[in-house]
Amino acid sequence: GQALAADFEMSQKSTIETILKSGVLRVGLDPGYAPFEMTDKNGKVIGFDVDIAKELAKAMGVKLEVVNTDFDGIVPALLADKFDIIISGMTLTQERNLQISFADPYIAAGQAVLVNKKFEGVVKSYRDLNDPKYTVASRIGTTGEMATKRMMPKANYKSFDKEPDGAMDVANGQSDAFVYDLPFCVVFMAQQGGKNLFILDKPFTYEPIAMGIKRGDPDFLNFLNNFMKQIKSDGRYDRIYDKWIKS
Ligand code: ARG
Repeated sequence: GQALAADFEMSQKSTIETILKSGVLRVGLDPGYAPFEMTDKNGKVIGFDVDIAKELAKAMGVKLEVVNTDFDGIVPALLADKFDIIISGMTLTQERNLQISFADPYIAAGQAVLVNKKFEGVVKSYRDLNDPKYTVASRIGTTGEMATKRMMPKANYKSFDKEPDGAMDVANGQSDAFVYDLPFCVVFMAQQGGKNLFILDKPFTYEPIAMGIKRGDPDFLNFLNNFMKQIKSDGRYDRIYDKWIKS
């Protein structure tokens, strides 16, 4: 009886306690996915997710610590306790959900394509890229990479370590197309795509974006879902959305 009760109490220990005790919320993210997380001219990490993380830290009464982490290894890093939570434009996939828990999605995205302008009128859909004569790029470890391999299996796939490098490869005419989340494609197009790129901006996947935490922590999950409901209703979420995403 007593041993069981103690076990139960142990298993009730939430990441909430760790955060409150240390006074720090450690958020794992990978700057490279504008407008969610990117580095400004001074090397500061900014973006939609960073502002959400700031509100979350404020709501918990603790300081925010951003832990820059390669997206490719971000799930293992969470499991190794390098930080408390992933807020990194991460798509809630069923595959990832078997390893970690996700709070309710806070936004949705989907895959879009940046294409080199020389194919304007020729490449009208991602389906046209499913051909060995095309080289299609994306970023390692992302749903962009998974979608390219799954839906354009005949194309040559070229993997990049950072989003902007992959998109730039298309602007430079090395790769023919870059497959990635629509919000990134829109920002890249507006900032440096003008002359050399066009965008296929009808998303061809559906991707809920959500915060990820370790499994077995219903209290933290409950806190996150209620926090998100609150900021979505009191104007804070809209302000952050308007600042980074609404064009
Ligand atoms: N939504 C995509 C995914 O989950 C891309 C996320 C990349 N995030 C980043 N911070 N670089 O795979």
